[in-house]
This record gives sequence, C-alpha cells and structure tokens, in this order.
Amino acid sequence: MRTSGPDTAAQSMDNKSFAAIAALAKEEAGLILPEGKMTMVQSRLRKRLLETGQPTYETYCKFVCSNEGTAERRLMISALTTNVSHFFRESHHFDMLRTKVVPTLLQKARDGQRIRIWSAGCSSGQEPYSISMCLHSAAPELVSRDILILGTDIDPAILEKAEAACYSEQQISGIPEDMRKKYLEHANGGQFRVNADIRRLVRFRELNLLREWPMKGAFDAIFCRNVVIYFDAATQASLWPRFRQRIANNGWIFLGHSERISDSALHLFEPNGMTAYQAAGSGSSAIRKE
Ligand SMILES: C[S@@+](CC[C@H](N)C(=O)[O-])C[C@H]1O[C@@H](n2cnc3c(N)ncnc32)[C@H](O)[C@@H]1O
Repeated sequence: MRTSGPDTAAQSMDNKSFAAIAALAKEEAGLILPEGKMTMVQSRLRKRLLETGQPTYETYCKFVCSNEGTAERRLMISALTTNVSHFFRESHHFDMLRTKVVPTLLQKARDGQRIRIWSAGCSSGQEPYSISMCLHSAAPELVSRDILILGTDIDPAILEKAEAACYSEQQISGIPEDMRKKYLEHANGGQFRVNADIRRLVRFRELNLLREWPMKGAFDAIFCRNVVIYFDAATQASLWPRFRQRIANNGWIFLGHSERISDSALHLFEPNGMTAYQAAGSGSSAIRKE
C-alpha cells in the first residue's frame, strides 16, 4: 500500500499553495478561485501532479510558479477552466440572431460586405456550431458569402475537441430535430459529427481574453456567454470597452444569463433583450471614451 506520493498529497492542499495557485490563475487567465473552491482545485490538479511527477501540492505549486513551469502553467489553466457548454444554450439568443441580426447580415452580404461573428470562450464548440446551424437554416443565402464564425478559447485541450466536432447522443440533445437530421453525421463510437457544411463557416483559435486580441476588423455579433462570470469585477470592467471597439456599429453582444455589462461601460451599449446589447454610438466615439 502506498503511503506517500501524489495520491496521498492530493488529499491535502495547504492554504499557502492554494493561495499561490489562485493568484496565478487570476494573473494568467483572470479566473477567480475563492477559498470555497479549494476542494475543486485539488481534484482538478490531481492529474497535473501525477503527470508532472510532483509529490505534493506544495512542490507542484513551486514548480508551476517557477521559470521551468511556464509550459505547465498553460496545462494548469486548462485543468482549472470550467468548460460546460450546450448546443443552443440560452436559446432566446438564437431566436434573436434569427429575427433581429440576420436581416442586417443579409443586407450587408448583399452590399458585398463581410460578415464576422465571434464566439469568445467557445469551449468545445457547441456555441459557434449552434450559430452556424442557425445561420444555415435561417439564411441559406448567407453561407455562400464572405462569412466567418471565429471560436476562441484559452484552453488548447478544449479547442481540440471543438475542432473534432464529435459529440455524444446526450450532447446533441439540445439541437432541434430537423437540424440534427440536416447537420449531423454518424461518427465512430456511436457519436455524431457536425457536418462539413456547418464546420466550414467556423474557425478556432487559442486566445486569452486578458491578453492582446490579434484579430482585425469588427464583428457583427459577439457571443461571450458564461465566461466573464469567472472573472472579478475589475477584469470584467476592463473587457467591455475592448469588446465595444471590436463590434460593428449597431452590432450585438450576447452575455450569459447571470452576466451584465458593468455600469462603467453602460454608455457604450444599449440593452436590447435578455442579456443582449447593441453597440451604442459609433465605434470611434466609443474608442475615444475608453
Ligand atoms: C463555461 S464555458 C462557456 C462556453 C460557451 N460560451 C457557453 O456559454 O456555452 C467558459 C469558457 O471560457 C474559457 N475561458 C476562461 N477564461 C478565459 C480567458 N481568460 N480567455 C479566454 N477564454 C477563457 C474557458 O476555457 C471555457 O471554455
């Protein structure tokens, strides 16, 4: 019977190590880990201890905070992020996409302009693929135009799943029946794969929202849902002006059900529906106000 090593250590994260991990998670990714999450953090990092060969949380903590731990920091953040997602989650946003956003997109496309939508914090891909399915079914004319749905996330492991586009029967249950028939194909192991027509509109990139955003041009709509809820108020407040700069005039931003634009940035957005906002004013005036 083993009496030492990671399995035993996994049961005993000390307060100092937890505080150091929490500080690192905030610094690297904006994630807020209150003390009440210590058990969750322990269990999520248990595998990291085993894979790095670190015998205790204390030694793991020292390693991940050191210069040698740079690569491990990315894997630690990947382990600490919450990646829960569903197809057509908070379906009222997809109703709005169809009824309020698509008419503008169609007009833009007919005028020869490009269409760009950003799923920021896209997790395993259900959100950008739901957007693609929604556009395909509501406006087939759009999909042959210059249109792109960008899915970004800080977590490279979850982006691999998003690229694979394979989901279990339970995971696809949120997709309306008619779309399941049109947009899914059978894959190995009883799974279902989002088909090429839907995948073709979507590109995935690794991106930390706290760092620079290399994308050029403005988005017609940004879905950033159930992401900023893991950040503190100051980090959230710092993001809204940056999002505003990236939204086309009259473009949209959709947030998760428990998320709101901070008061300090409300002048940049007009509330328009449940956790939905339209960019207020022109982009340049929004940039000046920042
Ligand atoms: C709960 S999921 C939300 C997925 C999807 N937007 C939805 O609503 O179903 C949150 C995602 O945000 C990502 N995330 C957390 N911190 C991030 C950061 N600093 N930059 C980019 N993505 C981040 C996580 O990796 C995770 O995949």
